[in-house]
Amino acid sequence: MIEVRDEGPGIAPDERDRVFHRFTRGERAVGGGTGLGLAIARWVVDLHGGRIAVVDGPTTNGHPGCRIRVTLPGRS
Ligand SMILES: Nc1ncnc2c1ncn2[C@@H]1O[C@H](COP(=O)(O)OP(=O)(O)O)[C@@H](O)[C@H]1O
Ligand SMILES: [Mg+2]
Repeated sequence: MIEVRDEGPGIAPDERDRVFHRFTRGERAVGGGTGLGLAIARWVVDLHGGRIAVVDGPTTNGHPGCRIRVTLPGRS
């Protein structure tokens, strides 16, 4: 299991599935992104038989932050 976490605004619970779709950006997205980053990440993880999701985590300095968890299957 790998988690990547930051201290930004986080991703609202009702957007946590949508943001993995191609060209889909969240309500609070800033800047000129493409909405492809998380879609590509899910594509790669799926090809490895794993899972990727936004998960809840503790707040840091009052910010919810964003925590993304990748779970990959073990060697069989
Ligand atoms: N670290 C993050 N913190 C908050 N929101 C994020 C984060 N990463 C992604 N998101 C949300 O998910 C959406 C999709 O992300 P992504 O696929 O990387 O595309 P992009 O960065 O081009 O918008 C973003 O538009 C944003 O709403
Ligand atoms: Mg991005």
